Amino acid sequence: MTDTFEGMWAELLPVGRSASSGGYRRFAWNSADAECRAWFEEQARARGLTYELDRNGNQWAWLGDPQAGGAVVTGSHLDSVPDGGAFDGPLGVVSSFAALDELRARGAEFAKPLAIVNFGDEEGARFGVACIGSRLTAGVLSPEQAYELRDADGVRLPDAMERAGYDPTAIGADTDRLGRIGAFVELHVEQGRYLAEDRPVGVASAIWPHGRWRFDFHGEANHAGTTRIEDRRDPMLTFANTVLSARKKAGLAGALATFGKVAVEPNGTNAIASLVRGWLDSRAADEATLTALVAEIERAASERGERDGVRVELTRESYTPVVDFDGPLRDRLAKVLGGVPVLPTGAGHDAGILASAVPTAMLFVRNPSGVSHSPAEHAEVADCLAGVTALADVLEDLACQPS
Ligand code: GLV
Ligand code: MN
Ligand code: MN
Repeated sequence: MTDTFEGMWAELLPVGRSASSGGYRRFAWNSADAECRAWFEEQARARGLTYELDRNGNQWAWLGDPQAGGAVVTGSHLDSVPDGGAFDGPLGVVSSFAALDELRARGAEFAKPLAIVNFGDEEGARFGVACIGSRLTAGVLSPEQAYELRDADGVRLPDAMERAGYDPTAIGADTDRLGRIGAFVELHVEQGRYLAEDRPVGVASAIWPHGRWRFDFHGEANHAGTTRIEDRRDPMLTFANTVLSARKKAGLAGALATFGKVAVEPNGTNAIASLVRGWLDSRAADEATLTALVAEIERAASERGERDGVRVELTRESYTPVVDFDGPLRDRLAKVLGGVPVLPTGAGHDAGILASAVPTAMLFVRNPSGVSHSPAEHAEVADCLAGVTALADVLEDLACQPS
C-alpha cells in the first residue's frame, strides 16, 4: 500500500514543477495539465477501470457500471494555482486510487458503482473562474459564460480546449451524470492549521461563501517626470488605497479580503498607469458579512477614485454561496472514522459545487505547515496514508452495502 501511494506520488511530483520556484504551474489545458491527464488515464486503465472523459473535460475512472446509478464517487483535481504546492488537488486523486487498491486488497465486495474523478480547472488560474469543470457540469456556469472567458494572453477558453484536443462545443450541464451519483467524497489537504497535532484526518462541515471581484481603476497615462502632482490621474494610488482599506475592513468584519493579482497598463516604470486591474478574493463565514464587506470596499474605492480623478469599475467574476455539507453523510463519515474533528474551511472545492446537486462530503488531511497555494504546502507521508485508510473506510461503508 505504501508503495502504491508513494509510487504514484513520485510519478506526479515532477509534472509541471518550476525549477526556479519549486511550485507547480499546472494550468487548464497547458502541457503540464495534459501530462497529469495522461497519468490519470494510465492509472485508470492499469487498474482495469472504465475510463471516461466527460463533455466538460473531467476525467472519470469507473469500477462497475457508470450507468447503473447510486454511484459512490471520490476524487479531486490535478491543476494548480500559479506556483502552487504538490498536495492541493493531487492528494485527493492519488489517495482515491490508493484507497481503491486498499479496498481490493481487503477483498471488498462492491454493491454500487465506484468512480474516481479528476475535475478540470479547479483553481481557475488560467481563466479566472474557479471550478470550471464542476461548475459546467452542475450548470452553474453556462457554456455562453465559459466561451467568453479569456486567459492573460487573450486566448479564449474554447480555443484553449480545442488546441488541447477537446471539443468545446460539447460543454454544458450534465445533470444525468450527477443524477447517477449517490454520494461524492473529496479528500483534500487541509489548508490552514486547523487540525490538532494528534488528528491527522478531519471531516468538513461547511465552506465559507467566497468570490472573485475584478476592480478596474481607470486613470490617465502620462509622463512620470513631467506631469505635475496636481495634474495626475494615477490609478495606482486608488488601487493602493483600496488594498489597504480592504484589509482593514476585512479585519473589522472578521472576514478575509486579498488582492493577490494585479495587471497594470502600460506597465512602464517611467509612465503613470492608465489602468490598474486588481482582483479581490473575499471570503466570510456568512453571506451577509461577505456582501456587506465587498460593498464597503467598493464604496471606499469609489470615494478614493473621486479624489484621484480615477473611475472605478467593479465586475464580479465568480461567486460561491455558503456550502453546508450534507448532514447525514457528514455524520456517517464521522461515525465510520470514530469521532474525528468536524471543521469548516475557507477554501473552495469542487465538492462545494457538487454539494448543490449531490450528497457530498469532504475529508481533510493535516497540513503541519499551515501553508497552501504555495510550494511550502506540506503533509507528512504518515498522515497521507492515514488519509488513504480513512477514505478506504468511508468508501467501503458507502459502496459495499446496498444503502
Ligand atoms: C481554491 O483552492 C480556492 O479556495 O480558491
Ligand atoms: Mn486550491
Ligand atoms: Mn484544491
